[in-house]
Amino acid sequence: MKFNTKAVHSGEIEDPRFGNVVTPIFQTSTFLQPNPSSEPYLDLTSGGPFLYTRWGNPTLQSLEQKYAALEEAKFALSFSSGMSAISSAVMAMVKAGQSILSVAELYGQTFHLFAHVLPKYGVRVDFVPADKLNELDVKMEDYSLVYLESITNPLLKVLDIREISKAAAESHVPVLVDATFASPFNQRPLELGAEVVVHSATKYIAGHSDVIIGVAGTNSEERFKGLVSSRKDFGGSPDPHQAYLTLRGLKTLGLRVERQNSNAMALAKMLNQSRKVRTVHYPGLTDSPYFNVARRNLTGFGGMVSFELRDEECAKRFLRSLTIPRSAPSLGGVESLITRPVETSHSSLSKEEREKIGIRDSLVRFSAGIEDQEDLLEDFQRALEAC
Ligand SMILES: Cc1ncc(COP(=O)(O)O)c(C=O)c1O
Repeated sequence: MKFNTKAVHSGEIEDPRFGNVVTPIFQTSTFLQPNPSSEPYLDLTSGGPFLYTRWGNPTLQSLEQKYAALEEAKFALSFSSGMSAISSAVMAMVKAGQSILSVAELYGQTFHLFAHVLPKYGVRVDFVPADKLNELDVKMEDYSLVYLESITNPLLKVLDIREISKAAAESHVPVLVDATFASPFNQRPLELGAEVVVHSATKYIAGHSDVIIGVAGTNSEERFKGLVSSRKDFGGSPDPHQAYLTLRGLKTLGLRVERQNSNAMALAKMLNQSRKVRTVHYPGLTDSPYFNVARRNLTGFGGMVSFELRDEECAKRFLRSLTIPRSAPSLGGVESLITRPVETSHSSLSKEEREKIGIRDSLVRFSAGIEDQEDLLEDFQRALEAC
């Protein structure tokens, strides 16, 4: 089956007693013990009947199976947030005395976990710029885990997961990828050589800016067992209602991301031609330094575009003049969102720290929604005239 067919049909629980078409919300914390049914549904995290929702629940499992089908993963698990998926996966994969090789341009909270929390437990993390990792200018054998974000925030650098995974495999080092910005429609890191993939499913996977949730996928049974154990220990299982909203959102992932890819590409091309715009960061532009890496690692260039206007004042005026995109952090929802990273994701850094990593006050980050392209183009053109 192809992507959209799986998105609609995979993982759904149809109970022959009721003939339901859609997976119900099993809003229950606990399950009968012993289960009197002759054919109880099995909790795939344990291989036995469901017992307690922190360990497993049919609605969560339905989401996990649908996501696994789309990620081309044998095993998948859902978490209460993207950060819960990330911290649970990392804690399952490293121990005291080991080191992680990570990309420098990390999501802020992940950076905090790696720079300030893991060292307290004896795990060291080295942060290497995306370009250096792409050039394979690192000694993989010094590490126990390579942690990547496949498209970085906010400058949309694309990591060469294919080549990095090949080099890591030669040194027997597993690769863990946060593929939130790509979504499983544009990229399946396990097919590119990663051992585990995680997502802030809050973004494209759930897709409607109404839920915080995370997922992880792997083809390794041993890694899956590690994830299950971490989820039990740290307690990061989602609530069944949260899982249901995500299961529902996931059915349209392909339709949404296809439109978001196309809206982002059209806007990136238009911005690239405007004399009001200094630089456009979009891996789908043929003049992007990441175009070739993106073509080897992505099946779509994504719904995120960032760009620099003349100065901070101009960027502020541009944002105020737009009428369609909502000004808010986060990304991946059906509604277009726009922010200045200096005000949101990177506000905790000093101006000097930001400039060192190329994030200027005039930088704007856009998450394309599914609105009509003509409306977005017209809105952007009008707002550009205001700055
Ligand atoms: C790339 C990336 N990874 C992880 C997270 C954390 O996800 P959550 O907010 O669902 O915990 C985010 C959130 O913005 C993100 O952008």
